Amino acid sequence: MNEKVILAIDSSTNEEVSAVIKNFKGKVKWVKVGMELFYSLGPSIISQLKDEGFSVFLDLKLHDIPNTVESALKRLCKYPIDMINVHALGGKDMMIRAGLVVKNSANSPYLIAVTQLTSTSEHQFHQIGFGGHLVDNVIKLAALTQEAHLDGVVCSAHEVSHIKKMCGQDFLCVTPGIRFSDQSYDDQKRVITPAEALALGSDFLVMGRSLIHAPHLLDTIPGGHL
Ligand code: C5P
Repeated sequence: MNEKVILAIDSSTNEEVSAVIKNFKGKVKWVKVGMELFYSLGPSIISQLKDEGFSVFLDLKLHDIPNTVESALKRLCKYPIDMINVHALGGKDMMIRAGLVVKNSANSPYLIAVTQLTSTSEHQFHQIGFGGHLVDNVIKLAALTQEAHLDGVVCSAHEVSHIKKMCGQDFLCVTPGIRFSDQSYDDQKRVITPAEALALGSDFLVMGRSLIHAPHLLDTIPGGHL
């Protein structure tokens, strides 16, 4: 059982989900329910995946004013989830209020914050109005996330060593943008291989298309315990 890989099920029908989990049940501990799946099939998909034995990361990347995020999380934490996230760009006050709701909920899932999306390049980072270097912004958002007492961040594996140095080894780094060396990047920009991401200290590898199109490659990824 690989406990490091979080399988991103970016599908929109029950048939697609069944086809995906057939290949991974009993082999990966974690699955990720993102916007496409949650908005297509609704909250019942979370219980279905839990019943299949998976831990569930609900990846809705909440980004709104503190009151709205707090209210949304009160609802979402009623589902049997093990990890959930907000955008760090929503600010410290929002993250503090999010943390209080999530930590006081029945399941008390991990709460992490997205720093900069792994589909964002340095060029796009400047295009949307940021100055300086993307990596410095990611580190700053990680420090803010820690000040708000969240469990960790979503970032690129390229940034993990900087974040661990600043925030400590226990601060979780969940890293999408993973590709095997000969694969297409698709829409991702800050990409890295599974072996490199693990060597750099990623706690969890979020992997969608690269594994779903080539399930046999899961066996090549080491999957230690947290
Ligand atoms: O198919 P692929 O491996 O690129 O999928 C990556 C998954 O991780 C997608 O579900 C995407 O929404 C999610 N994600 C990401 N970058 C982030 C946060 C989440 O790619 N910063």
